[in-house]
Amino acid sequence: MITKLLPPLIIGDLKINVPIIQGGMGVKISTAALAGAVANCGGAGTIASVGLAQGRITDSNNYIEYSNKALQKEIRKARKLTKGVFGVNIMVALSNYEELVRTAVKEKVDYIISGAGLPLNLPKYTQGSSVKLITIVSSARSASIILKTWKRRYNRLPDAIIVEGPMAGGHLGFKADQLNSNTTDNLMTLVTDVIKTVKDFKADIPVIAAGGVYDGKDLIKFLELGAKGVQMGTRFVATEECPVSKRFKDLYVAAQEDDVIITQSPVGMPGRVLKTEFINRLKRSEKIPFKCNFHCLHSCDVKSAPYCIAQAMCSALKGDFDNSIVFAGSNVTRINKIVSVAELIKSIIEEAAECLIGKLKTKSEKN
Ligand SMILES: Cc1cc2nc3c(=O)[nH]c(=O)nc-3n(C[C@H](O)[C@H](O)[C@H](O)COP(=O)(O)O)c2cc1C
Repeated sequence: MITKLLPPLIIGDLKINVPIIQGGMGVKISTAALAGAVANCGGAGTIASVGLAQGRITDSNNYIEYSNKALQKEIRKARKLTKGVFGVNIMVALSNYEELVRTAVKEKVDYIISGAGLPLNLPKYTQGSSVKLITIVSSARSASIILKTWKRRYNRLPDAIIVEGPMAGGHLGFKADQLNSNTTDNLMTLVTDVIKTVKDFKADIPVIAAGGVYDGKDLIKFLELGAKGVQMGTRFVATEECPVSKRFKDLYVAAQEDDVIITQSPVGMPGRVLKTEFINRLKRSEKIPFKCNFHCLHSCDVKSAPYCIAQAMCSALKGDFDNSIVFAGSNVTRINKIVSVAELIKSIIEEAAECLIGKLKTKSEKN
């Protein structure tokens, strides 16, 4: 009932009743189990396509085929779990980007979210399908480049734009020295700038805020700013349905301010991670042996990479922290328990409703 207070997130003909997209989280963090649970609660659930072959095959000849099949399997699993809205996150930086996009299209997902680079060719791989195309940007400049290029090359525009600010978890489209602040002020400025860019382009595209969105108050703050929804990652890791190990979730629950650090990833971007023994090994400049079987990321220079990011993310799943990179957003320090996806979404909706009602009361008292 209370959901009715919140406007749904409309992306073309998709209606997401609770205006929250669960962000794609690789490697194997946001699989069908999490995406399906979020979609069942009225949000949009996103399967991360990166690294689905990691730890399963070693033969590079089968990499593309196996990755496609693994993605197909996750999509079909999610479809069995939910009748709600779900899609796939496919990073531009992936060497099998085109193949994964084509697989997602064939499997008729509701949307594809693409960031970690500018998805300038995305419409080429999805022609003839009704899949919604959502791009992630970290600046109004990137949004402008995508709008102009898609219009010129394909005569179409993104169906939605996610603006990811510096508080997000995962790889970040900012320089390391821009990542110190622990408030959503920067994201608010970025969202405002991107909304203006879209308006200047005379386009009507929903803008979605991501990175540091924690509760219902944050949701309302961004809706009032003109965003049509939010994307959230970190909070969904600490849910019962997220398929990572208990050790992984416990690390989230225990995280304190000084456990959250920025590290340079072999992807060529900084990333926000939790301190683990692995980070200490990197600090000691320890050589971490690895064999690159697939060259899964365009941007990874295998010869100079100090470790394999895909392998390190895969090790995190079971809680092998001597060997793992554990991505997390700035707000991880506020998480103090593991809840179900339904409880998490319900609490955000209730906080949002409380915030709205409070604002209405203040307004009527003034009048
Ligand atoms: C553990 C983790 C893994 C992530 N993996 C990806 C990914 O594979 N692709 C991607 O585009 N974003 C990735 N992200 C970013 C999220 O999709 C989302 O945009 C971000 O977490 C939002 O910020 P928040 O964590 O403060 O809510 C990841 C984030 C986390 C926390």
